[in-house]
Amino acid sequence: MRIDVLTLFPPMFEPVLGSSILKRAAEAGRVSYHLTDIRAHTTNKHGKVDDRPYGGGPGMVMACQPLWDCVQAVEQQDPLPATRVMMTPQGKPLTQPMCERLAELPRLLIIAGHYEGIDERVVEELAPLEISIGDYVLSGGELPAMVLIDAVVRLLPGVLGHDESAFHDSFSPGANRLLDHPHYTRPPEWRGKTVPDVLLSGDHAAIEKWRKQQAEDRTSQRRPDLMKERDEPNDSND
Ligand code: ADE
Repeated sequence: MRIDVLTLFPPMFEPVLGSSILKRAAEAGRVSYHLTDIRAHTTNKHGKVDDRPYGGGPGMVMACQPLWDCVQAVEQQDPLPATRVMMTPQGKPLTQPMCERLAELPRLLIIAGHYEGIDERVVEELAPLEISIGDYVLSGGELPAMVLIDAVVRLLPGVLGHDESAFHDSFSPGANRLLDHPHYTRPPEWRGKTVPDVLLSGDHAAIEKWRKQQAEDRTSQRRPDLMKERDEPNDSND
């Protein structure tokens, strides 16, 4: 997969894309990252990419021209067709099924906006998938873009080793799209707390049953909405 990121702050991405699993995925040739500075595409002689909002109000609005030209230039760098994605708190909430679908695409072009917003005309013209990482507001789309990249890249074939497989993670198919069960490791006793006997029993069927029950109890207590969704699947929530 090719991932393009269009941002005003390329250096913010370097430590994240250059560490841990995201770095390993690129080294293994499963993904390539391409950072482009939107400012490099402005025709404004002072390097401006934003302006005051029509109608008044606080903050600045990202102008159409730099972003439009930047998208055109980046798309031309490679014939692979790009799926355009824009990070915005007004977008569709990011979910695990959505990440699974994005992981099947050959190329993502992620726009990490900044400022109060982006001129609606360029958003309409680019027609990106608009994605939110939750009902809270960050200072820009950079951290949300990194969240999206991490969630997608770890799903690419061959990125996680067998021991790290994403299949049983919370919200994933192997966890029935519920929260994960609790985990324990050595020692068998710590600060007077012991490990549930069943996990030491060697009885794999009993362990599976216990884990499934724990996952369901946890989900009912912490995220009753997920239990409800399982009973009444709702694709629009994907
Ligand atoms: N930009 C600012 N806040 C955001 C959010 N919650 N999700 C996606 N992009 C954002």
